[in-house]
Amino acid sequence: AVTAVILVAAGSGERLGYGMPKAQVPLGGEAILMHALRGVVAADVARQICIAVPKGDTELRELIADFTVDLVDGGPEISVVDGGSSRADSVRSALGALEDGTEFVLVHDAARALAPERVFQRVADALAAGAKAVIPAMPVVDTIKTVSGTSEADSSIAPEVVTGTAPREQLRAVQTPQGFEWATLRRAHEAAAVFDDKQAASVTDDAMLVELLGVPVHAVRGASQSLKITTPLDLIIAEGLLEGPLG
Ligand code: C5P
Repeated sequence: AVTAVILVAAGSGERLGYGMPKAQVPLGGEAILMHALRGVVAADVARQICIAVPKGDTELRELIADFTVDLVDGGPEISVVDGGSSRADSVRSALGALEDGTEFVLVHDAARALAPERVFQRVADALAAGAKAVIPAMPVVDTIKTVSGTSEADSSIAPEVVTGTAPREQLRAVQTPQGFEWATLRRAHEAAAVFDDKQAASVTDDAMLVELLGVPVHAVRGASQSLKITTPLDLIIAEGLLEGPLG
């Protein structure tokens, strides 16, 4: 099957606090994006890789160009697009740049720079077996509760009050790469293109847009190494993974 990977790397990285786009932040002496890109190429699941970078970026584009020059013949086509103001906008932008005839698309966060090859393979295998949507997921170790802000009267005690406890055995922490039949992913993102700001802000992954279409989303096992590098602590963990036995 003709498969493409969309690598979204257009986030600002504010929570990491480096004053540069997250994908550019060094991890083991190399930009986060380059770890992610090498991982995608090594997984060998795609003919085309389309990378969304921040609008106006030149540094990441240069790194990608250098990487592309060094690729051996027969490697994947690598292209770059300007990302948008939301993650979904960045995915839509990349969807518009995929080659005709693309059958499957894997959408991957550059921030999950150390996602292992076997997870890409599991997702690609589920698509080949007939899934229209497939996500890597992990059991959660924490108990997860819903909360809301407290009323004026209680706000001197604590800022939030618990409204419920979700049954942990039914919960999963969801990662990328998320895989889709191309037509399904395109339909899901077309539907989301008309969302108002509040709805758009609530879109945190691609699978939820497919869920809104009523298409079943299948879950395969993810990996702890696929953590999303978001905070300074995550960067320390990722550095440790690179050096340690799992790296
Ligand atoms: O912000 P969040 O943690 O959800 O970002 C997940 C991934 O989406 C990151 O790899 C980030 O670079 C990407 N992203 C993007 N365009 C945006 C926002 C986030 O490509 N506007």
